[in-house]
Amino acid sequence: MSLKPLKKAVLPVAGLGTRFLPATKAMAKEMLPVVDKPLIQYAVEEARAAGIEQFCFITGRGKTAIVEHFDVAYELERTLAERGKQAELDALRAQSMPPGSIVTVRQQVPMGLGHAIWCARAFIGDDPFAILLPDDLMMCETSCTAQLARAYEETGGNVVAIEEVPMERVNRYGVLDVAEDMGRLVSIKGLVEKPRVDQAPSNLTVIGRYVLMPEVITHLAKMERGSGNEVQLTDGMAKLIGHQPFHGLRYEGRRFDCGDKAGYLEAQVAFALQRPDMAPAMRAILKTYS
Ligand code: G1P
Repeated sequence: MSLKPLKKAVLPVAGLGTRFLPATKAMAKEMLPVVDKPLIQYAVEEARAAGIEQFCFITGRGKTAIVEHFDVAYELERTLAERGKQAELDALRAQSMPPGSIVTVRQQVPMGLGHAIWCARAFIGDDPFAILLPDDLMMCETSCTAQLARAYEETGGNVVAIEEVPMERVNRYGVLDVAEDMGRLVSIKGLVEKPRVDQAPSNLTVIGRYVLMPEVITHLAKMERGSGNEVQLTDGMAKLIGHQPFHGLRYEGRRFDCGDKAGYLEAQVAFALQRPDMAPAMRAILKTYS
């Protein structure tokens, strides 16, 4: 099977971040740091580790800091150089993006995730593409997007990262109707966005990592409203089932829901404990709370 290589990623970052007000009143929620890196940078690094070369940020009002973050900060670099702060300078340069690798598209109205992705249609063209929702922060030995890319090379078609959640929480997610559970991979016969707990087809849920075929755009373009009266990505994806391969991948690693205050705070602790320069101090602090 000769597949088109996965080189593009769409990162929706237009959300208002109401759950983090007042922190997000004048600041994009994707710029909230975990330890010392903003959420958006974790997502970009994860995608680059999967071989993604072209990025499209779906932005909105008040999100300019995200674009600034990936620009060359000339004055800052010069100041660091003058003060001999080589380590900081190297760290800053290591994260710089190749020229022309990021484009932005504005989602003028908050009509849902499906609408946000549709806004990237010119960027997507006829190519397969990844989607990363930066609120979902992944801690994986192999980049979660790279795991999806590998699965895409095996199966072709669409692959979404999935995890099991307690049944009473399925109403917060896109939920799988399973055709065949093969363990690591699951073939999908249906997808439902935020079903009622008593109507959910399973407790296998889609997390914010996808590899999709460009045909999803045709379905999203119909602008059919779904859950929450929004244009849902899940509904657009469901329309591909039966026409293209569609699999869920039980990814290896952990997800932190940084769209939620408790999840965000847990991520701070977990990521600090992973850092050799921070783990001892963090452990000592945590002991005083147990
Ligand atoms: C979105 C998707 C949902 C998915 C979730 C993963 O929901 O619509 O299908 O399960 O992300 O985080 P949101 O969290 O934006 O409500």
